Amino acid sequence: MLSYRHAYHAGNHADVLKHLVLVSTLHYATRKASPLFYLDTHGGAALYFLQSEQALKTGEAANGIRKIDFAALGAGLDEETRNGLDLYAAALKPFLDKKTYPGSPLLAAHMLRRNDHLHLCELHTVEYQLLRHHTDGDPRIACEHIDGYQRALALLPPVQKRAVVLIDPSYETNDEFRRTVRLVVDINQRMRSAQILLWYPVVGRGDVDRMIAALQRSEVRDLWQFELGVAPDQIGHGLTASGMLAVNPPYTLPGQLRALLPRIQEQLAPAYGHWVVKNLFAE
Ligand SMILES: C[S@@+](CC[C@H](N)C(=O)[O-])C[C@H]1O[C@@H](n2cnc3c(N)ncnc32)[C@H](O)[C@@H]1O
Repeated sequence: MLSYRHAYHAGNHADVLKHLVLVSTLHYATRKASPLFYLDTHGGAALYFLQSEQALKTGEAANGIRKIDFAALGAGLDEETRNGLDLYAAALKPFLDKKTYPGSPLLAAHMLRRNDHLHLCELHTVEYQLLRHHTDGDPRIACEHIDGYQRALALLPPVQKRAVVLIDPSYETNDEFRRTVRLVVDINQRMRSAQILLWYPVVGRGDVDRMIAALQRSEVRDLWQFELGVAPDQIGHGLTASGMLAVNPPYTLPGQLRALLPRIQEQLAPAYGHWVVKNLFAE
């Protein structure tokens, strides 16, 4: 029985990191003219209302995206990094102006082109209905009320021959760290060129360390870790940090994040934050 609702968390520090990485990856992937296939295995509701009871109850957006000063963040950056940041800010602006926050499906729809295709999976019935509603009318998008772990492999490799896959589960069940590793390994085996972005929460560091070790033992190559923390690791204190594991990320992304993450950390958590940009294959 799924109970997670992203409306409580939309626009928090984890979304800032995740969506910055997603926008930069899609920007890079759309530099090539040939069409792209985008798969979101855990799509969520696609649109969130920052004045909703859920959002106000946790205040997570207020301590996340609402705290970001984009002008200060962008000052003095190199052109490539600045472009990535500008794209992220431009994608968010129309939503933030209306006190809403776009989930990954709407951000991806914004970044992708007419001949690209988006496939969005969501298992929670209400979230799926919202996802359908908020993406309705876009001919590039297919939504499925389905288990994203089970569905993903059958969709790959796509006819487009190029794919970006976002795996962004709610980690509600004990086996999800294992399931995500399995899925990344299987996707990578089926389609070596797929760019895979896997989000992970840091609630206890052990799960993350085991997940990374398992991926390092696998055949996955070109594996990177990007992490943003707002508090020291402490079990029982909720989401103290989160990260993205990226397979085949754009070669420009680590440099961009090395420039941006210290600044974002400084704005969101100057006292206790941390950031990581690490090549896990080189370890
Ligand atoms: C963190 S939210 C997704 C947020 C979204 N990717 C974004 O960035 O806006 C995780 C979603 O996965 C859904 N979910 C949980 N287990 C699932 C499964 N096995 N297959 C597909 N969706 C699932 C949850 O209902 C929830 O809406």
